[in-house]
Amino acid sequence: LSVSDPKSFQEVLSLARSGLAEALHKTDEIMMDVAHHAPVYLNQKLDRIMARKGKRVRSTLLFLLAGTGSQPLQVQRGAQVAASIELLHLASLIHDDVIDASEMRRGISTAHAEWGNKMAVLVGDYALSKSMELVVNDPDRRILQIVCESSGKLVCGEVLELDLAGKLDVSLEQYLEVIDGKTASLIEACTMCGAIIAGHSQSDVDACGRMGLHFGTAFQIIDDLLDFGVGASNLGKKPFEDLANGLMTLPLLLYRNQTDTTQRLAFDALLNKASNESVQQQVVALLHESGSFQAAQKMAMDNLNNAIAILKNLPESPNQQHLVQICESMAFRAN
Ligand code: FPP
Ligand code: MG
Repeated sequence: LSVSDPKSFQEVLSLARSGLAEALHKTDEIMMDVAHHAPVYLNQKLDRIMARKGKRVRSTLLFLLAGTGSQPLQVQRGAQVAASIELLHLASLIHDDVIDASEMRRGISTAHAEWGNKMAVLVGDYALSKSMELVVNDPDRRILQIVCESSGKLVCGEVLELDLAGKLDVSLEQYLEVIDGKTASLIEACTMCGAIIAGHSQSDVDACGRMGLHFGTAFQIIDDLLDFGVGASNLGKKPFEDLANGLMTLPLLLYRNQTDTTQRLAFDALLNKASNESVQQQVVALLHESGSFQAAQKMAMDNLNNAIAILKNLPESPNQQHLVQICESMAFRAN
């Protein structure tokens, strides 16, 4: 990977998506249908949370892989699975915003900021239940299995993160377990489901799963860097929320691991006051000077290189090229 890659992540995603317009449109329609068929007291709320369109990274990965088989892309089937995964993602974000007390996401006020925690939890629960319904009739039982398992892994990642919140002695292994659960597992589900829909062999489905895990790990590491404002623009949410919430994200734990006792005590004292803005700036300066941001970026890139190596083993196709480009540009995403 090189920093000189001229295309941004957004541009590469848009390019990849131009060939997926029908599939992504169908996915949107299925999600909108969920909102419109909900009881009247829920449908406006669902409409509102669905109107906030994200980058749709998960559906894009799913469709790109689903189109790497010898048969044409199965649009309706893929859209059903993509809508299920997007709804699961949406449900988890609604709950995550309650847990993190985040007021803004994607530039819009969050569900709990609008309707309170109780209603936000229930709206998230409804989205989760509909997500499961969307895959119960898929002809391949593995799809339902994968989606169900990934929803459990999401919860485990979040539980472990909550357990560790406020603790300073977090190991790299614990950090990786958290992000594997809360982020990488859902992306793994997308790439595995895509590979199943494409009709690939079980060993290729497993390889695509590993590709998704590497991509998802890198995706969350970049998310952690964006929380410090590193490379961020139009973030759509407040920076320093992880820091203020006492989460030991990768740059912090990489810095802390290479300090001597005196530096560590001073750093821990700063972390204990991390809701203060001037302390946040001091932490950012320390992480910059020590190369901890760069070290975190390198870990993201190593994961992306592993993902690319797996992709290169798939038969050559335009979709494979798009997937490689997505991996190449993701580390430089700004939001
Ligand atoms: C965002 O992390 C959080 C997630 C991707 C997963 C959240 C999972 C749960 C709340 C478990 C509940 C799950 C279900 C199935 C309903 P982040 O806070 O680091 O990212 P952010 O900066 O975008 O908020
Ligand atoms: Mg959050």
